[in-house]
Amino acid sequence: MTGPLDSFGRSINYLRISVTDRCNLRCIYCMPPEGVPQMPHSEILSYEEIRTVVQAAAELGINRIRLTGGEPLVRADLPKLIKMLSQVGGIEELSLTTNGAFLKKYALELKQAGLSRVNVSLDTLKPDKFQYITRLGKLEAVLEGIEAAKEAGFVPVKINTVVMRGINDDDVLDFARMTYEDGWHIRFIELMPFKGAAEFVPSIELQQHISLLGKLESCASITGNGPATYYRLVGAKGTIGFIAPLTEPSFCSRCNRMRLTPDGKLRPCLLGEDEIDLKMPLRNSASMEELKNLILKAVASKPEHHHLEGGNVRLVNRKMSQIGG
Ligand code: GTP
Ligand code: 5AD
Ligand code: SF4
Repeated sequence: MTGPLDSFGRSINYLRISVTDRCNLRCIYCMPPEGVPQMPHSEILSYEEIRTVVQAAAELGINRIRLTGGEPLVRADLPKLIKMLSQVGGIEELSLTTNGAFLKKYALELKQAGLSRVNVSLDTLKPDKFQYITRLGKLEAVLEGIEAAKEAGFVPVKINTVVMRGINDDDVLDFARMTYEDGWHIRFIELMPFKGAAEFVPSIELQQHISLLGKLESCASITGNGPATYYRLVGAKGTIGFIAPLTEPSFCSRCNRMRLTPDGKLRPCLLGEDEIDLKMPLRNSASMEELKNLILKAVASKPEHHHLEGGNVRLVNRKMSQIGG
């Protein structure tokens, strides 16, 4: 394990960078129909500034980077950023979380630019429901995007499904079936109670439901740096992961990550309020040592855990689209 240790002995080696707060979709659990007020472009870190942060992080042993949004592919020239970051010494993995709508267009270019992996958000396999959940999306485009990512050589392509009671909990078996022949790697995420969110479904309940299809066996390893725990239906090519921030007691004890917002704030915890500003220092010619010290300060201020147990709603000072999940 590389990366600096936080106050609870966790090694922090993974930085999630939200490159934009903009999105082409309006998922019901993420944004209101009209969207959210956008950050002015001048507030958003340039690609050069992001690279400088990644260089400082890499020097500290933070060697896994994931680009998120909003929707990262709505930012102009994203492959250019991928190329810049893939050339930073010490970065071992550079991945992307996307809603998939533009993947068909960009998959090959992203691969050629040096991207390691892609995760795609997809909450239903039914076209009408897809349109209801995303308000603006077309299921077909995402399915084509997933195929394009596989054809471009990304392995594994993981699907992220946020499960909402009464909305898409009846899609869970359809997704689980896709792991048999189609070899999908699917992860079910407990919906975090951001404002306006629906009711989450505990992962244990989903596991019991999926067991109707066959025996679900714990599965040791699949490439990744995140909080999912993985299983496989006996005989299936693909895997089923569960991301259970609300019900898994040890969820936060395995935390290895921090986040950088589009406007250059380091967030020690997704669900915390604390932020450490890197934008001002970056724009005031801070030295590498100064940046590294700010990153270490953020690592040192990581809380032991969040306070969402039992679905306890707590206001978070940013929208999910400005943090990147
Ligand atoms: P892999 O490297 O493939 O394991 O990726 P990942 O799971 O780290 O990244 P991805 O962006 O696909 O994350 C999936 C979802 O997990 C996010 O959108 C969040 O909903 C949730 N998640 C990831 N990290 C955290 C975390 O630190 N805290 C909480 N509460 N949820 C998280
Ligand atoms: N709870 C859990 N996951 C969420 N995401 C967005 N909002 C929430 C929420 N309230 C996830 C999306 C996507 C990623 C960018 O963040 O499904 O996978
Ligand atoms: Fe866009 Fe992702 Fe939010 Fe959906 S969840 S509106 S795809 S940022």
